[in-house]
Amino acid sequence: MYKRYLITSALPYANGPVHIGHLAGVYIPADIYSRYLRLKGCDVVFIGGSDEHGVPITLKAKESGVSPQDVVDKYHNLMKDSFRRLGITFDIYSRTTSPVHHETAAAFFKKLYDDGKFIEQTSEQFYDEEANQFLADRYITGVCPRCACEGAYGDQCEKCGSTLSPNELINPKSAISGSVPVLRETLHWYLPLDRYQDFLEDWILNGHKEWKTNVYGQCKSWLDQGLQPRAVSRDLSWGVPVPVEGAEGKVLYVWFDAPIGYISNTKELLPDSWELWWKDSETRLVHFIGKDNIVFHCIVFPAMLKAHGDFILPDNVPANEFLNLEGRKLSTTRNWAIWLHEYLDELPDKEDVLRYVLCANAPETKDNDFTWKDFQTRNNSELVAILGNFVNRAMVLTQKYFEGKVPKINDLADYDKAVIAELPEIRKEFEHAIETFRFREALKKAMDLSRLGNKYLADTEPWKIAKTDMNRVATILNLSLQICANLCIILEPFLPFSMIKLRKMLAIETPAWDKLGEVNLLTEGHQLSAPELLFEKIEDGVIEKQINKLRAKEKANAAAASDVAPRKETIQFDDFGKTDIRVVKVVAAERVPKTDKLLKLTIDTGIDTRTIVSGIAEFYKPEDITGKQVCVLINLAARKIKGIESQGMILMARNSSGKMCLLQPSETMDNGSEIG
Ligand code: MF3
Ligand code: ZN
Repeated sequence: MYKRYLITSALPYANGPVHIGHLAGVYIPADIYSRYLRLKGCDVVFIGGSDEHGVPITLKAKESGVSPQDVVDKYHNLMKDSFRRLGITFDIYSRTTSPVHHETAAAFFKKLYDDGKFIEQTSEQFYDEEANQFLADRYITGVCPRCACEGAYGDQCEKCGSTLSPNELINPKSAISGSVPVLRETLHWYLPLDRYQDFLEDWILNGHKEWKTNVYGQCKSWLDQGLQPRAVSRDLSWGVPVPVEGAEGKVLYVWFDAPIGYISNTKELLPDSWELWWKDSETRLVHFIGKDNIVFHCIVFPAMLKAHGDFILPDNVPANEFLNLEGRKLSTTRNWAIWLHEYLDELPDKEDVLRYVLCANAPETKDNDFTWKDFQTRNNSELVAILGNFVNRAMVLTQKYFEGKVPKINDLADYDKAVIAELPEIRKEFEHAIETFRFREALKKAMDLSRLGNKYLADTEPWKIAKTDMNRVATILNLSLQICANLCIILEPFLPFSMIKLRKMLAIETPAWDKLGEVNLLTEGHQLSAPELLFEKIEDGVIEKQINKLRAKEKANAAAASDVAPRKETIQFDDFGKTDIRVVKVVAAERVPKTDKLLKLTIDTGIDTRTIVSGIAEFYKPEDITGKQVCVLINLAARKIKGIESQGMILMARNSSGKMCLLQPSETMDNGSEIG
């Protein structure tokens, strides 16, 4: 058994709120594990904090017209507060813009620099000569070499999903000034990961065969490909400045500084004893992360720690896979998510329900799906029908027959003995599951305890024998209440809010973990408090409301940026000047026979009366449009459509899903008024 546990959870980027994917993947398991170890009496430090550097934050700031500091202030506070409301028991939740972090990260870099652990190398990077700065990959846009659409980024095309490098873009442009970037030489520091290849292979592939297969497998595949040097600095103004002379305008790469944030935050929490947690071989370091962070936590950060020399290495990195939402990938940019702060506002007092569902359905070995229907079912048929029901019956019957005092155990029947014998078994299996990071399984074991209690009451039916055998009723209820007290211990890591309630009902403090599995947790005659419901049924209306909210997001998304038609090429003013667009009046309209889409319109252009055929019949009936003013391109060469000569084109707006609407002047204008 280790003396102390240092538990870290990935520092989320402070460019958006926390969503259920973060929770299921990282924060809920990390919190369960920390709470469990504390209950067992271990010395635990649980580290959290915001990752506040990196290009996406500077882009977000630019988009919203505020400073990067404003962006991170906003989201840091929002995340910190919503984690607290969900009962995530960080010992500290700090941030990588803190002075302690800047100092710590700079000192870490400096030590590696002084010890000659880096290689220095110049390379060619895109540079914006108007803005006088180097451009991060995200700051370069152009035509995608794969799908030919405009607006691809230097690192990725969001239309077709290809990973790109900036020199592949066709017609690259700077997102800052719009100018064409040029290649310029720049100096950077690289961590030569190849020099750590042997050490990492031995440490992970031989030394940590117990790691989760998804984690071990990813590490093996990186190692099999052969590690390459990685740049640890960037040309950027937002970040920890590179603490070396002549490095003006350069900062530490965000993935170099962020994991050092775990150290900085420990330092901030324990200025005098932090070294014990990071340098003593009796500390067990465990990183909770999502699968996209595996390489940084299993390969890059350990290589950094090794290069530094003073630090312990992680003992385990129980990374999870991803959680999807109603069958689709979660996305902060597409707003396809359930945001924690909104959940907490809209479903008050249901913190534990979310904790329960996200753990019961956690993406531990493969990607998983969250659906509101499943959320409702798990609440109604597990939390309410099994756990809540059992506790309630035990409490209410004790009130009824024994005035709320724990009754005496009399003779034990064989069935009672069998139930009692199961308790230590459950404990054993529970501990094995949680200590191997199988939290779903652990939760299932804990719920098995309430299933056992529920079945015990249903089978023994104390309400039926109350008239004939009060001694037997006393035994049954005593045992049932002992199971309730056991639940207080075993479910505390998962359902902390409900266990506060349950302890209050039982009028006890949390019993020590050692007591789990025993049936002497409540003494005879102990006075219980009044029963309360632990969980409430969730009605269809609540779920429908949430589903509708998602539907609305889906619609908004379909209309939003990702589906907007690509930009056309630039034209000169004269090109536009050639168009003759006028306000005209529709004087008559009729369907074009044998077509679904076409209307034949007669319009008054102020100059003449003419005929136009337009494909708007799906959206407007003839009577909707007759008498209205619309906009028409009147100098378009005439062409025949279905045998009718069409003299011009009505201007319409069309979105990606094909919906169309007419453009109309906001006030009545003379027919023939020019547009431009
Ligand atoms: N901000 C990163 C992400 O959300 C995680 C950083 S973890 C740390 O993917 F170790 F770097 F802190
Ligand atoms: Zn593309």
